[in-house]
Amino acid sequence: MSDGPKMWGGRFAGDTDALVEAFNASIDVDKAMALDDLDGSVAHATMLGETGILTREETAAILRGLEDLRRDVERDRFDFKVALEDVHMNLEAALTERIGPVGGKLHTARSRNDQVATDLRLWLRRHVRVLLQLLRRNREVLVDAADRWQGVVLPGYTHLQVAQPVAFSHHLLAWQEMFARDEDRLRDVLKRLDVSPLGAGALAGTTFPIDRMRTATLLGFARPAENSLDAVSDRDFAIEFLSAASIVMMHLSRMAEELILWSSNEFGFVELPDSHTTGSSIMPQKKNPDVPELIRGKTGRVYGSLVGLLTVMKGLPLAYNKDMQEDKEGVFDAVATLRACLTLQAELVPRIEAKPDAMRAAAGAAYANATDLADHLAKRGVPFREAHEVVGRLVARALADGVPLEALPADVLRAEHPALDDDALAVLDLDAVVAARTSFGGTAPARVAERIEALRAALAAHGPEEAPA
Ligand code: ARG
Repeated sequence: MSDGPKMWGGRFAGDTDALVEAFNASIDVDKAMALDDLDGSVAHATMLGETGILTREETAAILRGLEDLRRDVERDRFDFKVALEDVHMNLEAALTERIGPVGGKLHTARSRNDQVATDLRLWLRRHVRVLLQLLRRNREVLVDAADRWQGVVLPGYTHLQVAQPVAFSHHLLAWQEMFARDEDRLRDVLKRLDVSPLGAGALAGTTFPIDRMRTATLLGFARPAENSLDAVSDRDFAIEFLSAASIVMMHLSRMAEELILWSSNEFGFVELPDSHTTGSSIMPQKKNPDVPELIRGKTGRVYGSLVGLLTVMKGLPLAYNKDMQEDKEGVFDAVATLRACLTLQAELVPRIEAKPDAMRAAAGAAYANATDLADHLAKRGVPFREAHEVVGRLVARALADGVPLEALPADVLRAEHPALDDDALAVLDLDAVVAARTSFGGTAPARVAERIEALRAALAAHGPEEAPA
């Protein structure tokens, strides 16, 4: 049984079932939006006063009461009650308790439906901005790491088989590119967030002469939502955020996977810092990459939130439906997850110790320079297909002899093709192989150095919220 009259209790004769009350309540989740709810209320009350819907005195009393509540929320002294269902009714009830019946005027020309849609947008906008900063930090540490490790050669893989050697810095900058697109996607989320549902009422607008442009402006939104039905039932912005968040996690997870592989004994390409690894309770020799593993693992929960909200929304008729109360938990959890993962990733990257000798040995051991021999023949006029065939035979021969291509006797090379002279041997050198890939976007150290410089300039010129020109 309920412990008091409901704010909507007028048409009810009986009490709410206790289980229903608990089932219906969202306060444990949506209390996270308390400050946003207060912002929305301040804007709404201000507008009600300016338009003459409320008197100056009423407005002043409400605004004072709201500021009073804000202080309590900020100091974590506000007592949220399940019986009051959600953050909106908790704050409104407290307002009336403090300032008297005039508090009940705050809800003039407003519904919880436009209120909650506004709150969630405000909450998400605040947090997307934090995530943008964190993505930016990750891009910066990757550029720094790329700079630090210039000259280190890593085997590049396709199918997880050694393919062609690349600059380790080039690989780190590939990660940076992923985050650059993630940043762009989150900036895009901010664009669609920039619309105010406030004033849409329950679904149809209101009979009061409100000023929606004014509340939009007061809340820092570009404009009010055009259609009241859409305004209260749109959760695209949250789905769009979750999809951008899922892509961030997918990227983090791929990076994590590489760090896990690279730090294994089998690869031995990097050493992860003691500060971000853990030991085993039984095997004294172990150093486990728990942080990357957890980042990889937490990707699943963010995908889950995306699929969860898409599923909540897919069958809903316009406009608001209580199902939509399920929208927040996944969004809040995704923000917390990205925040933790991006923070840890940005701490980890500068502490990764590359092992250049191990990387070089692996890059040199698996015929990663075979393409270069074929390219050499093709540059001498041999059709590339034929060159490929010739080098394939040489690789087979070298494999049988257990030697690298460059150790094959000169007569063996020349017997395969007359153009396989001493010049040909020069292109096989590992550093030469990397340096030769000077095409735009290629791994040549000169290209990588240019990119580092360009990125430094771009990152210094634009904050994470402004798209580069
Ligand atoms: N707690 C609700 C939610 O999060 C607020 C809106 C409730 N509206 C309603 N008509 N019951 O969705």
